[in-house]
Amino acid sequence: MRIDVVTIFPGYFEPLRHALVAKAVEKNLLEVYIHNLRQWATGNHKSVDDSPCGGGPGMVMTPTVWGPALDDVAAGTGPVSTACRLTSAAPHANKPRHDDLSGTGFSGYTDTAWIDPARGEAPCDGDKPVLVVPTPAGSPFTQEQARQLAAEKHLVFACGRYEGIDQRVIDEAAARYRVREVSIGDYVLIGGEVAVLVIAEAVVRLIPGVLGNATSHEQDSFSDGLVEGPCYTKPARWRGRDVPEVLLSGNHALIDTWRREQSLRRTLSVRPDIIDRLADDNALSTDDLEYLAQLADDAEHHS
Ligand code: ADE
Repeated sequence: MRIDVVTIFPGYFEPLRHALVAKAVEKNLLEVYIHNLRQWATGNHKSVDDSPCGGGPGMVMTPTVWGPALDDVAAGTGPVSTACRLTSAAPHANKPRHDDLSGTGFSGYTDTAWIDPARGEAPCDGDKPVLVVPTPAGSPFTQEQARQLAAEKHLVFACGRYEGIDQRVIDEAAARYRVREVSIGDYVLIGGEVAVLVIAEAVVRLIPGVLGNATSHEQDSFSDGLVEGPCYTKPARWRGRDVPEVLLSGNHALIDTWRREQSLRRTLSVRPDIIDRLADDNALSTDDLEYLAQLADDAEHHS
């Protein structure tokens, strides 16, 4: 995969030079290019923003800078043709992980039909890169979208600042990109940079071959729609607290049932909306429903 990021704060992306993302770069599974938007700014002040049409507070990022920047990133022309590839801060390529199971046969994700026609998004056209525009006004970013982006060849991230990017930039970019306006949560950040770090990390860890243990993301929170239950390691007793006995039993059928129940219990507690949705979609098994009914019963007896 290739990732291009356009930003006025390239320094924000230093974290991509560390840990798992850097490892993906070292393994040649990922190329990352960070571009300073000001390279496309003209005039003495290299200004990238202007006052909002219609009045109001703050500044809006101008199409006259973003347009040429996104043209060059899509075509690999201008400053993009000589851009520096991000390198790992501390190479770990020759240090195999204890859980490296290369060759487990994981074949990647194939479902790339993440389009929202209601938002006027272009149909899936594999030749066009995906332009991800983080904005609090976007559709919520989910694990399912992370999975779909992980199957792409080329992602371009456009980091807005101030009040945002002139909407015509996003609308016009649909000629060269499949555009996704995404929000990472119901709160407002001061720019898209941190959101890009969040999205890039969620996506890169799902690129086949990036995680040492190819099965680890199959147990992630949200991979089956639920949040993950608690996890434990050794020692079996710590400060008077024991690891749940079932986890030391060696009985994997029992352990799977216990984990599913913990997952249901935690999801019901922190995200009851997810339980309601899965129930409406008939995505819960009879065992799941029985366990949830039992939890509701217990809650009633304790109140
Ligand atoms: N930019 C500012 N706030 C944001 C959010 N919540 N999600 C994505 N991008 C943003």
